This record gives sequence, structure tokens and C-alpha cells, in this order.
Amino acid sequence: MKYMLRTVMAAAVLGTMSLGAQAAEDRANVFYYSLNDTFVNALSADMRDSAEAAGLKLSEYDATDDLAKQLTQVQTALAQNKNPLIVNPVDALNGEAVLRNARRAKVPVIFFNRKPLDKVLSSYQDAWYVGTSADMAGEYQAQILIDYLSSHPQADKNGNGQIEYVLIKGEATHQDTQQRTSSFIRTMMNSGIAGEPLYTGNADWSYSKAVNMMRELLFTHKLSEIEAIICNNDAMALGVLNELQAHGYNNGSGNFIPLIGIDALPMAVEAVSRNQMIGTVFNDRRSIAEICVKIAKAYCEGTEITEDLVNLPINNRQIEVPYVKYTITK
Ligand code: GAL
Repeated sequence: MKYMLRTVMAAAVLGTMSLGAQAAEDRANVFYYSLNDTFVNALSADMRDSAEAAGLKLSEYDATDDLAKQLTQVQTALAQNKNPLIVNPVDALNGEAVLRNARRAKVPVIFFNRKPLDKVLSSYQDAWYVGTSADMAGEYQAQILIDYLSSHPQADKNGNGQIEYVLIKGEATHQDTQQRTSSFIRTMMNSGIAGEPLYTGNADWSYSKAVNMMRELLFTHKLSEIEAIICNNDAMALGVLNELQAHGYNNGSGNFIPLIGIDALPMAVEAVSRNQMIGTVFNDRRSIAEICVKIAKAYCEGTEITEDLVNLPINNRQIEVPYVKYTITK
């Protein structure tokens, strides 16, 4: 399928330009749910680098986790130009509102990282989604833990044949929270290693919320009872690590709780290499950014969006970037 937006745009621009004027440059509008989110912030740097390399100019907007603000930002941009939208929606329902506005304006929209509902995405032929196979991340976390347990049987501190763990989750409505959590639990169960959640809670991807959650948890549980801590992302794992270290754990002294995150943020990678965490899972933000840029650029140029272009399978205009396990005991 060819996308002829460039031709339409060029005709519209030529109508108002004097002969000999330069053609318009390729541009896209990018909307982030919150640049306070550590992973999304790092992804925004990759988005800028990828766009620069591809010759795509970006106008960037930060919704600061505010639904109404994001919709206003999208509507304002659509009133100003017809550039493709690259959108990290504040939530799935907001994604639907953004899509309706884009469709009305006949402007393509590329969602990433936070997924609108499938039926919403499929309702507009110029709506795309670039995300990850979140199931894979939870499965990798379970594999990291299972490998660790097989070489460290003493990790079952009370020797009761099961692993009592704490699970700290992201935002409750986020697809990554739900899929990462359920695939972790499923993989643990299928491995035959009995796991028993001592505590689970949502710290919404946030370092400081994870610190507070650990502090509260310690009113009712002792660190010596906890046999593993699994976090839906690295920012929360780093918050947990901070709290563990404040209590003399995971700092090389001998007291240790296996801790696993997701994202492979530089600080988590460093913690893994220092044996303060047993692993993380690389959430390939560079590829997510590059693919969003390639799709937006193809719309600007009126060229075809193919699997060769994005280097991954495309299913109903959805692309899943694979994760990579990151552990010292690989
Ligand atoms: C996830 C990421 C989290 C958080 C979230 C925001 O993919 O692992 O750290 O950034 O996206 O939507």
C-alpha cells in the first residue's frame, strides 16, 4: 500500500507558494505522556537522535501525565499543520480520543509504548502501534530467577521448598504491567518452582513510589523473610535497591535478596554488573524510536511502509520490538 500524503501536502503547499520556493521539510509532532518517566525520557533522546539521522524535524510535547493537557496539545498541533503524529498516550482511552481527532483531520498517527485498544487501532487505516512483546519480558524475568535459584539453592532461606517473593507492578491499567506480571507468574508456575507472592502492589513505574512501598512493607514483613523481589521496571527496582541498601542488603556485605527489573536503564545495568541486582530485561527504546521515525518519514515522503523498512513483522499495523535478557549469569 502506498501512502500519498506527501503528494497531497506538496500540492497544498505549492498552491500557496511562489514558484522557485523550497519544498517543505519533513516534520512530525511527538507527544509524550510524561518526560518525568525515566524510561520515556531516555526514549525521547533516542527519538531526537533517530529523527536527526533520518532528516525528520520534530516538535515535541510533554503532557506531564495529564489527559486533558495531551488532548489539547494534539488538537492545537492539528490546527496548525498536517504533520504525522507520534503519540505516547497518557492512557488507552486518551489514545482513542487522539485517534478520533487524527482521523477527522486525515493525519496519520503512530502510537508507541502505551497501547490503545486493538479495536480502536483497527478503526483507522493510518493508525499504527509500535510497542514490545510484554509477555516476553515477564517470561525472561522468571527465567533469570529460575536460573539463579538453580545455582543458589540457599536463596530459599527458610528451606520450605517455595520462593516467597514481592512483586512491584507498574500502572494498573498499562498493558505492560498486566502482561509482564501474568507471564512472570505463568512461567514460574510452569517451571515447577513453587512461588508464593508475599506482597504485590502498584508503584506506577516510579522510583519514589517504590521506595515508599518498601518502607511500608517493612512495617509488616522482615527483609529476612523475602526471597526475591520482582519489579515491572528498573526505576522501581532501583527504588527497592536504595531501600535494601539502607538496611544493609545488596551491597556486597552478604545480606542479599535477588532483585530483577525491566528496561536496562544504565543505572540498573551497572547494579547488575556490581551484583546488586540479578538481572534486568532490555526494553529496546532505540528501535522503538527508530521505527516510529521511519513510519512518520514514510508518510511525509509518500513511500510504502513495509516489513523490510521496519525490519520486523507488521501485524494489522502493529509492530512488536523484542526484548533481550540482561544478566550477569547469562
Ligand atoms: C514501559 C517501561 C516503564 C515505563 C512505561 C511507561 O514500557 O518499561 O519503565 O516507562 O513503559 O509507559
